[in-house]
Amino acid sequence: MWSSRLVFILAATGSAVGLGNIWRFPYMASDNGGGAFVLVYLACIAILGLPILIAEVLVGRQGRRSPVHSVVTISEASRASAAWGLMPVMGILAALMILSFYSVVAGWTLHYTWLYVQQLLGSTRLEDPAGSFGALLGNPLQLGMWHAVFMVLTVVVVALGVEKGLERAVRWLMPALFAMLLLLVGYGLTTGHAADAARFLFQPDFGKIDGATVLAATGQAFFTLSLGSCSMMAYGAYLPRDNISLPRTAGTIALTDTAVALLAGMAIFPIVIAYGISPEGGGPGLIFTSLPHAFNDMPLGSLYGLLFFALLSVAAWTSSISMLEPGTAWLSERLGVGSRKKVALGLALFCWLLGLLAALSLNRLAHVKFGERDIMGLLEFVASDLMLPLGGMLIALFTGWAMDRSLLRGQLPEMPEWAFTALRWLLRVVAPLLVLAVLLRAAL
Ligand code: TRP
Repeated sequence: MWSSRLVFILAATGSAVGLGNIWRFPYMASDNGGGAFVLVYLACIAILGLPILIAEVLVGRQGRRSPVHSVVTISEASRASAAWGLMPVMGILAALMILSFYSVVAGWTLHYTWLYVQQLLGSTRLEDPAGSFGALLGNPLQLGMWHAVFMVLTVVVVALGVEKGLERAVRWLMPALFAMLLLLVGYGLTTGHAADAARFLFQPDFGKIDGATVLAATGQAFFTLSLGSCSMMAYGAYLPRDNISLPRTAGTIALTDTAVALLAGMAIFPIVIAYGISPEGGGPGLIFTSLPHAFNDMPLGSLYGLLFFALLSVAAWTSSISMLEPGTAWLSERLGVGSRKKVALGLALFCWLLGLLAALSLNRLAHVKFGERDIMGLLEFVASDLMLPLGGMLIALFTGWAMDRSLLRGQLPEMPEWAFTALRWLLRVVAPLLVLAVLLRAAL
């Protein structure tokens, strides 16, 4: 069990804050027209993210086991169908699919950390950021190697359970990343393009809101809060019960996560515009092709670049752990004590191989296309934009309809009656219908 509310908040925030905020949010905003996307994303965090985050953590804290067993136990206690147990299985699969490409991208951040070590030592210089990034994508060996390094880092924590290290990483290194982002926002002000960046990010062009934008924004809201895959449920299982208000805790996590994403946006877009890169259609390479320009021109830029990518790698690490944890908890529960290390290793190997396919789709397998998408794009789309919202919808339905009202109420004793009723109807009707509408709208 986590020793306190603070440790849980740290671990859950560590899960939430990651590449989703600093790599994915800016590039999704860039690819989906800016302000309109950001507006829908913020609405999704408030209307879908917050209630579903409460629901996930709550189910974990009530069930106290791996996500699958927690859901099955609660179903039995509520005389609901045991088939609900299939829901976390889908979530676990989504988390593993996400881990497979996530660790490829985390491999890029490790590679960039290494590049800045070399730049600091004077042995290389990122003169042409777009060219350097292209060179990395064209090099399967390098991609596969950094991808492997990152996967090893992840599996070591999940297999050995080094909570102390995790706690320290989140308590000290994440605030450091936050401070670096703030400084970058400050640098953005000196470029004279902060106002243009703010206009791009916050002035919605409603003509640009279509089904695809809304789906992308919904998927991003789930992705960034680690929702819909039962990651947060797995963490909730270790949360002590006394005196810990779930709505307040969930609010803190969602607020921190959103703040980091918006800061990242306001750090990156002024630089993007200042260096003559189009803010639209930046794609997954956006931060890697834009930030190095600023690091080249800033005083102590090489050191800054090194720290930035190192801290981003740590943030990715505290997230990837939470993707491997639910599957490991479930399978090792089934296979018995002593199997945890082997299970973690087996799942990581599976994800590494799947991720290798994603990495190869950037070069050797670039011709394999599914419509517009390559293998990596397809994996990202299916897992984040389809499976996560679907998983979130099922969790909302489960807590709203299947779970006994008294069990639900028992987890939220501090909520006034009206707020509890409102939350329950959000979970029963509003959230599921909204997700359904988003999915249908995008399909039609
Ligand atoms: N939220 C993390 C990020 O923003 C990614 C993440 C961690 C995640 N665990 C997850 C995404 C589970 C989906 C499901 O980087």
